[in-house]
Amino acid sequence: MMQVEATLPPWPVRSAYLAPPDFESVLEQELQRKGAGDLCWHGRLALSAVPPVNSLWALETWHEPEMHDVPSIKGAARIMRAIQRNWAGYVPMLHRRSALITDALPPLRPKPFTFPAAAPTAHLGAWTLLCADRLLLSRTKTSPFVNGEVPFVENRTDPPSRAYLKLWEALLRLGRWPVAGETCIDLGACPGGWTWVAAGSGAQVTAIDRSPLADNVASLPNVTCRYESAFGLDPESCAPVDWLFSDIIAYPARLLALARRWIASGRAGRIVMTIKFQGETDHETAEAFAAIPGGHVLHLWHNKHELTFFWQRDPS
Ligand SMILES: C[S@@+](CC[C@H](N)C(=O)[O-])C[C@H]1O[C@@H](n2cnc3c(N)ncnc32)[C@H](O)[C@@H]1O
Repeated sequence: MMQVEATLPPWPVRSAYLAPPDFESVLEQELQRKGAGDLCWHGRLALSAVPPVNSLWALETWHEPEMHDVPSIKGAARIMRAIQRNWAGYVPMLHRRSALITDALPPLRPKPFTFPAAAPTAHLGAWTLLCADRLLLSRTKTSPFVNGEVPFVENRTDPPSRAYLKLWEALLRLGRWPVAGETCIDLGACPGGWTWVAAGSGAQVTAIDRSPLADNVASLPNVTCRYESAFGLDPESCAPVDWLFSDIIAYPARLLALARRWIASGRAGRIVMTIKFQGETDHETAEAFAAIPGGHVLHLWHNKHELTFFWQRDPS
């Protein structure tokens, strides 16, 4: 288990950002670009003296950090109970003490999601012990999930890759998924995890990749495979689709041009696209994706060195 030193920043904490495991430095680069100032790290939680900035990489942002002296476990729980019911602890250190605080709070029993499912709507705050007698809490945070984690009851037999979890999470966060009667294009579909998700919902799916899909997906009656480059496909030549999915491995700038082309064509109702990075993170292109009207960008719990771009034609 990672050893974490007690962290007490010499300034009032005005915002906090939880980094995805192994992506602390990417988050730090992003926060520096966005003017979050000096950071003080508490495990994967970056504490800042500056009010919240819009982070694409944080699993969650704590909007309203408050520091409290807590000489006792009961005292810590009392402070949080007096504010609201639901609290998720981030515990990189002081595990025993934090567990006792958790036991003294109203129970929170998050269960793995069974897809399809919508994200929880219950209000959820966050807390952590910076040292034995210092509690940092935030009544609000950007993610409705405990520590930004989105566990699923997995299917270990049918999908040909674990990439399906990324699309499950994206659709859960949207609260919408393809349904029978809708149409989808899946760019960069091989070996077929995303196509398996979309087809499993009953929609018609056109899977596009130069490599073949796994047989159990390619043979589904509502899947059509096209062996060609996604970049050579002219959206104007396609019938309108309800969903455009893309999990292509390509340079972010190339994916941005692809997304813009599909948006300009008016041929896609919604887009879910992975923005993949190799080597250095291209923050500039990530921000250009985030600036597209009708779009937003998140780092999903199931993303690796990736972000996910969401866009819809008619926001509703
Ligand atoms: C990460 S994999 C996709 C995984 C897939 N979403 C799944 O769930 O199984 C990326 C895919 O992009 C495909 N790809 C890369 N460049 C492409 C292009 N120009 N056109 C179509 N597919 C491409 C690769 O062949 C590869 O199969």
